[in-house]
Amino acid sequence: MNAPCPDQRGPLLGVCYYPEQWPEGVWPADAARMVALGLTRVRIGEFAWSAIEPEPGRFDWGWLDRAIAVLGGAGLQVIMSTPTAAPPRWLVDRYPDILPVGADGHVRKFGARRHYCFSSTRYRQEAARIATEVARRYGRNDHVVAWQIDNEYGDHDTIHSYSPAAQAAFRDWLAARYGTIGALNAAWGTSFWSMRYNGFDQIELPNQLVEEPSPTHLMDYLRFSSDQVVAFNRAQTEILRAHSPGRDITHNGMNQNTDYDHRALAADLDVMSWDAYPLGNLIHGRLPEADKARLLRTGDPDQPGFNNDLYRGVGRGRMWIMEQQPGPVNWAAQNQAPADGMVRLWTWAAYAHGCEMVAYFRWRQAPFAQEQYHTGMLLPDGTPDQAHDEVARVAAERALLPPLPPRGRAQVALVLDYPSRFALAVLPQAANFRPGHHALDWYAALRRLGVDLDIIGPGDDLAGYRLIVAPDLVIMPEDFVTRLAASGAKALFGPRSGSKTGDMHIPANLPPGPLQRLIDVKVLRSESLPDWHEERVLLGNRTLTARRWRETVTTGADVLATFAGDYRAGAPALVGNDRVRYLATLPAPEGLRAIMAGTLDWAGVAALPDLGDLRITRRGGLCFAFNFGPAPADAPAPEGARFLIGSRRIDSADLAIWQEAD
Ligand code: GAL
Repeated sequence: MNAPCPDQRGPLLGVCYYPEQWPEGVWPADAARMVALGLTRVRIGEFAWSAIEPEPGRFDWGWLDRAIAVLGGAGLQVIMSTPTAAPPRWLVDRYPDILPVGADGHVRKFGARRHYCFSSTRYRQEAARIATEVARRYGRNDHVVAWQIDNEYGDHDTIHSYSPAAQAAFRDWLAARYGTIGALNAAWGTSFWSMRYNGFDQIELPNQLVEEPSPTHLMDYLRFSSDQVVAFNRAQTEILRAHSPGRDITHNGMNQNTDYDHRALAADLDVMSWDAYPLGNLIHGRLPEADKARLLRTGDPDQPGFNNDLYRGVGRGRMWIMEQQPGPVNWAAQNQAPADGMVRLWTWAAYAHGCEMVAYFRWRQAPFAQEQYHTGMLLPDGTPDQAHDEVARVAAERALLPPLPPRGRAQVALVLDYPSRFALAVLPQAANFRPGHHALDWYAALRRLGVDLDIIGPGDDLAGYRLIVAPDLVIMPEDFVTRLAASGAKALFGPRSGSKTGDMHIPANLPPGPLQRLIDVKVLRSESLPDWHEERVLLGNRTLTARRWRETVTTGADVLATFAGDYRAGAPALVGNDRVRYLATLPAPEGLRAIMAGTLDWAGVAALPDLGDLRITRRGGLCFAFNFGPAPADAPAPEGARFLIGSRRIDSADLAIWQEAD
């Protein structure tokens, strides 16, 4: 593994470039313009397989050799990719069984991208073959400083395949996990509905059934599918490490994707990347329409921060943005333009959250194929567009800051556990139970109070945290409870915490299972509720609203808030002792903020009054403030603070950076 980046004066800046899509004659001018703009990195090659190997075994390296020479010769550092996200047509013709099969049983065909099944042994061989060829050719090239493997595992719902290869591999995986079919029968609860199996060779994939499968069957399939991704990726890391020593290896994740275990994947990587498209994610995101209207061109203030903090943690402190939205995109339900200033704002915000590099997608808008409406830094004719000018500004502003160390540990950590997310996908118990939205609600409530967070897994080191919040740790490892008890941190758990064992059973001591070692609380009943219904919760002299989920608990701990209304009025809604609190419902944002304010106070973490649409973040003695709202706002900077960028009054879509007092 490579060492972390040295202290930096602002983010490294880069761009995604597709030399195979442009006449060779424009490459030198493109490279020169990138350098003039202040870009130092360029990612290439992730969809270039058919250009590299147009026919089986016939390699056309010339164009790529020249592209790297032109880019590198201009002074750019190249992030090379393995091109396995888009297998060529001839490969599909030769080996049709590399194609993935959808849950409906239909083969997903050639004609776009990501058309492969992670379980296809043939595809794994082919992926290793092309990765080896590319790594041998460019692994020691002086211009190549890093590698991206494949592209966005999981994009277009491609983690799960229901092919014959997946079925065979799943049986092997189950045999290794359980050893005996009896153990599987016990775990899956096959005495229910007469589902008993006599051997692993009888087991099928959990699609196209009459009713839902056993939750343990489905859970194992999700775990298996995740393991297939990790193994597929690991094979390429081994090839790259052998042929390209000393280069960073990364993969680009997506907005809070939980289809596979990103921590397991990143254990094999040097740095974790993610692709930031805040405005598409606003349209598809958690906020009510009134908020979406207010934030239409600036985006959810917490979506970028959440992902920055998540992937910084997944990458064990090292995180890049490989693709940053430059203007309108093409793939959301609607694709609005960012307010002027937002590309700059997102870039500085990523840096404040510890990001080492921001690369923009893409250099020039494509006048052909699927993404014609997706903007780039340049228009199709080469005219500079919004991102071009805003990135030029960021590049110049870097000189105004001192070099900063990597972001330090926060006082507050939020737990996001991939197996727990699998569990909620398996048994949501409500069509409107959206854990990704709920976790973002918790994060937002804390961020609006000016708090910096780390996002961690239950296996991560807990030392030094004052407060740990876990909105949805459904499968609670015993070891986590033990380490939490030893850590000295206070903790707030959300509903459904500890509600399933690793086998997807209800714990013998009832939910929250192992957490009962730290707090006397038992969940007797869970109910899910429609969006149009509001529960009322009394917290001190305030009445809060809650939605979607309510639990009936019995407790020997203190009752800190109660349900009001016509159903079981007076039942506990928030309970706690001096170390652990348990919340039995999903409060709406304002109520959640009130609960978080009380929780921060209890844990001894300093908070600010509600920041509204302003977000602040600290790194290396500097404080960064970002205004996502439509109106100017004042930075909560102390009197006489020294501003390095901007000033106390921050316009919409603008930012300020000041020196914190020593
Ligand atoms: C990403 C993908 C890119 C491009 C982009 C468009 O998901 O990695 O290749 O399609 O979306 O926004």
